Amino acid sequence: MRTKITEMFGIEHPIIQGGMHMVGYAELAAAVSNAGGLGIITGLSQPSAAALADEIARCRTMTDKPFGVNLTFLPIVNAPDYAGMVKAIIDGGVKAVETAGNNPQAVLPALHEAGVKVIHKCTAVRHALKAQRIGCDAVSVDGFECGGHPGEDDIPNFILLPRAADELEIPFVSSGGMADGRSLVASLALGAEGMNMGTRFLATKEAPVHQNVKDAIVAASELDTRLVMRPLRNTERVLTNPAVERLLVKERELGSAIKFEDIAPEVAGVYGRIMKDGDMDAGAWSCGMVAGLIDDIPTCAELIDRIMAEAHAIINERLVGLG
Ligand SMILES: Cc1cc2nc3c(=O)[nH]c(=O)nc-3n(C[C@H](O)[C@H](O)[C@H](O)COP(=O)(O)O)c2cc1C
Repeated sequence: MRTKITEMFGIEHPIIQGGMHMVGYAELAAAVSNAGGLGIITGLSQPSAAALADEIARCRTMTDKPFGVNLTFLPIVNAPDYAGMVKAIIDGGVKAVETAGNNPQAVLPALHEAGVKVIHKCTAVRHALKAQRIGCDAVSVDGFECGGHPGEDDIPNFILLPRAADELEIPFVSSGGMADGRSLVASLALGAEGMNMGTRFLATKEAPVHQNVKDAIVAASELDTRLVMRPLRNTERVLTNPAVERLLVKERELGSAIKFEDIAPEVAGVYGRIMKDGDMDAGAWSCGMVAGLIDDIPTCAELIDRIMAEAHAIINERLVGLG
């Protein structure tokens, strides 16, 4: 299937694996890219720019297909070495970068100079328009359903995607709640040129995380996510567990007086214990409502082949008869 996104990134299928903290390592990125999608290494999951350079080199040994790097701009004072990471990306010959979290303007000139295409992840049409204005090549439109940070507007993709289509000139992919061929065809119908998935790729054989994480996604329904950190205007959609319920009690009790320190035990530094050790109650971890649509743990190739076969069947068999 050829779309503006497959053309832009030189990939076979219009499917992108979104950056995921402590998940987006070379194993997953290479598996997605080998399956014809665009795999993404998560820059900030590496301890330094030098380590990111090594991870990019490691990924190159696993695939000769295009892959990308996610740069998440965090709202913190002691910023990571973004300039060093951009250099590692360029020197490593990576041609796709997914930016997220904040305005990527500062990194655009260097990336564009090196021929890198930048897709910025946004949760609002006004942010997507800003991304277009500053020169991003594409955007990933992340609806309220998404795992991770849906922003503060709470607009689901059935509204957000057509709104983006009405306003944007640059191509965009859908993100949030995407799982299968139905998601892809619906995304195309709503104006997107492809789709981005996080939670679905977390529950694959190659995702380098503890089996408990994958099993938890398969066991979860669409009712099992919660929004945390809303009072801090840093809302995150996570899978519920006792730590999350504790956190929500604190949010209710402390109201607008709550500070990050109050919930640090449930959110700070917990990812390693969850993703690596499989300690599922260690704290809050990002997970989308799409968990309700996930009930197996395929390889990335099985998943992507299935999505494409289902998408083609919907288009050529079901929809064609309605035309
Ligand atoms: C475990 C996990 C970690 C994530 N970490 C990041 C991250 O570090 N940076 C980022 O831009 N997005 C991150 N995301 C968001 C994904 O890239 C993607 O936008 C989102 O998962 C899409 O929604 P879905 O889960 O419904 O597919 C994360 C998502 C998950 C599930």
